[in-house]
Amino acid sequence: MTITTDRPTVTESANRPDAYDPSYSHIQVAKTGELIGARIGGVRLSGDLDDAVVAEIRRALLENKVIFFSGQDHLDDGIQHEFASRLGTPTLPHPNVRGDGKSVLSIDSDYSKANSWHTDVTFVDRIPAISLLRAITLPTHGGNTVWANTVTAYEALHPAVKALVNQLWAVHTNLYDYAADRDEKRIGGIDVKEQSYYDEFRKQAFETEHPVVRVHPETGERSLLLGHFVKYFVGLKSADSSDLFQLLQRQVTKLENTVRWNWSLGDLAIWDNRATQHYGVADYGQQKRVLHRITLAGDVPVSIDGVTSTPRKGDASHFSDLG
Ligand code: SIN
Repeated sequence: MTITTDRPTVTESANRPDAYDPSYSHIQVAKTGELIGARIGGVRLSGDLDDAVVAEIRRALLENKVIFFSGQDHLDDGIQHEFASRLGTPTLPHPNVRGDGKSVLSIDSDYSKANSWHTDVTFVDRIPAISLLRAITLPTHGGNTVWANTVTAYEALHPAVKALVNQLWAVHTNLYDYAADRDEKRIGGIDVKEQSYYDEFRKQAFETEHPVVRVHPETGERSLLLGHFVKYFVGLKSADSSDLFQLLQRQVTKLENTVRWNWSLGDLAIWDNRATQHYGVADYGQQKRVLHRITLAGDVPVSIDGVTSTPRKGDASHFSDLG
């Protein structure tokens, strides 16, 4: 191993025997669970990392689906962007939000508490490949994020259910029913700031038809492409769509298929948006919570029959280039 000790190291998992994956020589990789998640140590993130280090970070991401870095207190939006650019091409913050030119989307509890399982930006054809999320302001308690592995969810399906979903397509939209997913504790209505935030995210309608099972462009793995932007399954009545959606989401979100991260300042999480769903847990009352997210451009999904997703409404070409 060529890991230097002046860099942030993996702490908790390192107390267990053989915590580090010995196949990595430039970073420390310690799994948080068998199916998803790893802590990464031995690296100070920046845009200047050696190619060999970046290649190992990418491999750890593809293998573990979400990876966590701690002690990265030196990061700001600029360095987050420079490091992100080593893993891909940053998109706009959102198809309906042009932002500050740095691709940073501020996820701010004053405006948004998702409390809902999703994959980022699935309502466009070019779904982001990778997302990088950094803690900015944290509540005294709560506000964890949970990720689920959509590859192992697919693999664990009964063969008959696999046969059904292999042929199925879903329409995803940004005009999904936000109110239905809103935290019930927030009864009393949404305030003006929150309303204008939702209006901005919905100002242009996007709708895209995606395969329910997509083939990962780097690993070749099959994964379930679902989450809260799904409106219905093509050809199914709405009650059947809803029942099938619940069945599949149950499979994705089984606890053993997830990892839950309790944020500290200095943390950065990176997930493979082609192989995961995530859920920001809004269990921190009226406290402030802010995270900064950068997404990296991704391919248009391809079904197991080699058919690509089709936009039905809205042109997302300004959001990210296709490689
Ligand atoms: C996100 O949905 O990208 C953010 C998740 C969170 O707020 O924890």
